[in-house]
Amino acid sequence: MGINDNPIFVGRTLTEKLFDRFRLEVDQLRTRRRFRLTGVSAGPDWKVFGVPVITRKPGSVVTLGSGVVLVSRPEATALGISHRVILRAGPEARLVIGDNVGLSGSTICAVTSVTIGNRVLLGPDVIVTDSDGHSIAAEGRRSAGFPAGEESNAVVIGDDVFVGARTMVMKGAHIGAGSVIGAGSLVLGTIPPNSIAVGSPAKVVGTVPPKS
Ligand SMILES: CC(C)(COP(=O)(O)OP(=O)(O)OC[C@H]1O[C@@H](n2cnc3c(N)ncnc32)[C@H](O)[C@@H]1OP(=O)(O)O)[C@@H](O)C(=O)NCCC(=O)NCCS
Repeated sequence: MGINDNPIFVGRTLTEKLFDRFRLEVDQLRTRRRFRLTGVSAGPDWKVFGVPVITRKPGSVVTLGSGVVLVSRPEATALGISHRVILRAGPEARLVIGDNVGLSGSTICAVTSVTIGNRVLLGPDVIVTDSDGHSIAAEGRRSAGFPAGEESNAVVIGDDVFVGARTMVMKGAHIGAGSVIGAGSLVLGTIPPNSIAVGSPAKVVGTVPPKS
């Protein structure tokens, strides 16, 4: 996609286009700095619209593959987004994003491990989390911070998965490669590869046609 084909640049005056181009360059510079300051490892050819929110706690790993696109401006994606991309990794957590992944206003919060494969698309405002964020027991629920991570809570999203807008992918979820998750779904447990799954909780309603 050429820079002027992006919705940000369409239907604007020359001055606005020049400003957009300048702002885009600033977004890349600010994001590069964020990556450096937070110790995020990003492969080549990443691109951002807007600056992602990133928190990386000590001992954690956050890596982005090559060609990752992070959309943190509503005008840069067809359906819009309600907030910037948010990437958070708690102490000792792993947040690994593969090559050529597209995130639009997505939140990915890893306390133990979140792994996102290659060529995955997360639609607008998708949330991926491997933790409840607060203890289930009432005691300490408000004050004790995130519950300790458990390996069984790890989230894995396979290669070539497409997750529809505003879906939530919860702790322990595994989405098999090639699957499509309907907009507004809640993913719990395992979705087999090449499935179409929808609803809350998401259930398989079809199969993704094989590549021709
Ligand atoms: C999941 C999806 C791909 C299915 O599309 P499809 O293969 O054309 O399937 P259909 O529309 O024929 O729906 C199949 C069944 O699933 C149901 N369904 C489809 N999407 C659903 C959703 N998001 N939530 C709940 N049920 C859904 C339909 O009602 C239908 O049920 P029925 O068989 O009982 O009538 C599509 O509905 C969807 O959600 N796409 C994501 C769009 C999006 O968020 N894009 C982001 C833009 S970047």
